[in-house]
Amino acid sequence: MQIRERAWAKLNITLDISGQRPDGYHEMKMIMLAVSLCDELSIKSVPGGEIRAKSNLRYLPGDERNISCRAARLFMERAGTAEQGLEINMKKRIPVCAGLGGGSSDGAAVLRALNRAFGSRFTPRELEEMSRPLGSDVPFCICGGTQLASGRGDELEPLPPFPDCGIVICKPEFSIRTPELFARIDERPIASHPDTAGVLEALEAGDLRGIARRMYNVFEDALPRRCGKIGELKSRLIDLGALGAVMSGTGSAVFGIFETHGEAISAHEEMKKHCRECFTAYPMPRIG
Ligand code: C5P
Repeated sequence: MQIRERAWAKLNITLDISGQRPDGYHEMKMIMLAVSLCDELSIKSVPGGEIRAKSNLRYLPGDERNISCRAARLFMERAGTAEQGLEINMKKRIPVCAGLGGGSSDGAAVLRALNRAFGSRFTPRELEEMSRPLGSDVPFCICGGTQLASGRGDELEPLPPFPDCGIVICKPEFSIRTPELFARIDERPIASHPDTAGVLEALEAGDLRGIARRMYNVFEDALPRRCGKIGELKSRLIDLGALGAVMSGTGSAVFGIFETHGEAISAHEEMKKHCRECFTAYPMPRIG
């Protein structure tokens, strides 16, 4: 068996938090979008029961500290084939620790790929359910597209397809630790919230400008001082013609939305002078 699968990055068009939950997680409301920036995975069966991962990033662990191995183990246990050894090869393009869901998306891609290889015995809904213990963003990544995520982030509602547009994604050289940012947001009241209902209406109407100008992430108000580059990159994207720019998830990546792919490609040329890890992308439709 040798199977290939892509793992698409996710962006948070909006990110809102309404409080802490009794289970220690936070109550979220997020409009999420899968985009064309992706990792490429290939999975093959190997002798023995071991599950290992290899990637172009030497520092990523190859054992079950890697979410793709945990996803594979979970699937093989559920499918009743836990004795099968697997080797997962990953070409990572999505920056790590960037708020772009790279790890979550790899985990989801492993579940989709193995499900295909084993005769599609689980429905997409069942894969979403299965993926919950792997992390809050993994269920979204099973089908991707445009979705409203609530609760821990794993209660999903499919939304109309995102209007076609160009996207420029920039990852500053520093990363932000997710638990640190959640802790910082708990220390102070959240001053303003995104207009999630307004974005949903704009999505329904296919109104790209209406979506882009309402993009907002509450974590931006809780950023440590050392993260000034995030505001700087957003301003540059707007100066280059972006209809809106915002940080994704817990950062540190930011993205800007442009009316056309051409405008995004031109802006990307300029942004590369200010940010080493910089990509163009476009919205991806829902899978399945
Ligand atoms: O679910 P996941 O493993 O991706 O979450 C990573 C960390 O992010 C959690 O340990 C928690 O600190 C924080 N988190 C949260 N509320 C959520 C999602 C994540 O507090 N809804």
